[in-house]
Amino acid sequence: MDKILIEGLQPLRGEVKISGAKNAALPLLATAILCDGPLRLENVPDLRDLATMAALLRHMGGRAEIGGGSAELDLSALRAPEAPYELVKTMRASALVLGPLLARHGRARVSLPGGCAIGARPIDMHLKALAAMGAAIDLEGGYVVARAPEGGLRGAHVHFDAVTVTGTENLMMAAALARGRTVITGAAREPEVADTAAAMTAMGAKISGAGTDVLTIDGVDSLKPAACRVMPDRIEAGTLMVAAAISGGDVTITDAPHEALEAVYGKMREAGVKLTAAGDAVRISAGGGIVSADVVTRPHPGFPTDMQAQFMALMAIGDKISRITETIFENRFMHVSELRRLGADITLEGRAALVKGVRRLSGAPMMATDLRASASLILAALAARGQSEISRVYHLDRGYDRLDEKLRALGARIRRVKA
Ligand code: EPU
Repeated sequence: MDKILIEGLQPLRGEVKISGAKNAALPLLATAILCDGPLRLENVPDLRDLATMAALLRHMGGRAEIGGGSAELDLSALRAPEAPYELVKTMRASALVLGPLLARHGRARVSLPGGCAIGARPIDMHLKALAAMGAAIDLEGGYVVARAPEGGLRGAHVHFDAVTVTGTENLMMAAALARGRTVITGAAREPEVADTAAAMTAMGAKISGAGTDVLTIDGVDSLKPAACRVMPDRIEAGTLMVAAAISGGDVTITDAPHEALEAVYGKMREAGVKLTAAGDAVRISAGGGIVSADVVTRPHPGFPTDMQAQFMALMAIGDKISRITETIFENRFMHVSELRRLGADITLEGRAALVKGVRRLSGAPMMATDLRASASLILAALAARGQSEISRVYHLDRGYDRLDEKLRALGARIRRVKA
């Protein structure tokens, strides 16, 4: 198992390009199930989660190759419409195949994802929405066994009481080949949902309202081969922005999805960080010290839960007290006890963390617990005196495309060792 070693207090400088977005690429891979022929994706990052999704598509009998920044998929001939526990347990987003399998093949057998480090994460809203389209859904031996009605799924009006990102994507994919019109209210407005809708539209789907909380989908008979580009990863961009700021550096990020990052830009500015956007780039230069700012995570366009841990690392060296409230997941504070090992002063009060800025963090061994937590530990180590050692970095490789290499190219003293 790899470890990452970091010597902190080295200001980062230079330019770095953002990779394609994990959370856009995952549903885009699943859309291949809907397509009548080959689907080509560009700007595909090199991530373990995407390799897992490709393995899942191959398990079903399709062709799915990822490499060199692109993906070639062809699921027009599919043998087994199922997602086995062995693959789903390593990646919850496997549930994204449920909607497209039901729509195109009329049946699906998908392992129920278990809980994970950040919360219970049920998929009850996905299932209820598919049932509203006429699917018969049973739970058998830990699997969701679903069947479309005679003649296929039917359009329906589905309202989500709470925002669900992959739930919205699952339903949108199911509706693309259903009979008649589906209207989704309370839909997730995350940019990755809009990116998925844009790719599906290029394949011939009829979707309007992408990026808003009302989606209207008119079912069509089939989706056609297409080539689509994955949007840049707003969370990777935000993570690198914090890296620049926390190290007191001066970094230009290219291919930055500005609109998708508005809430993060706002909080970075509130934290006293200077941002200058020009074209598709944003330059981050640390001014004086870091100013403590409060954050509440919200569905898009609010501050993303996927940036909460990284922003907490920045607040650990803020000038006063920052209150960070997590409203999306019930247990997304696993990084707190690890950050404390560096000397961070953080107290938990239910769903909020009170972060009292300290003048100096100092290096320590730490253990990554989930994807965004691992990023936050790396960021904090960049601001710590002495050496830090982060173990269980496989969490990082699930969702960041060579983050350690990118940081090293910006001057960070970071290296990966085989443990
Ligand atoms: N929820 C339910 N029932 C459902 C679905 C969701 O109770 O049927 C709850 C969840 O437990 C959670 C909340 O609703 O408390 C929001 O969950 P959502 O469904 O929006 O999350 P997701 O679709 O499973 C995606 C991202 C996550 C990101 C969340 C929130 C992908 C593949 N994953 O998950 O990304 O945190 O939306 O924005 O798109 C990450 O990249 O590190 C990550 C965890």
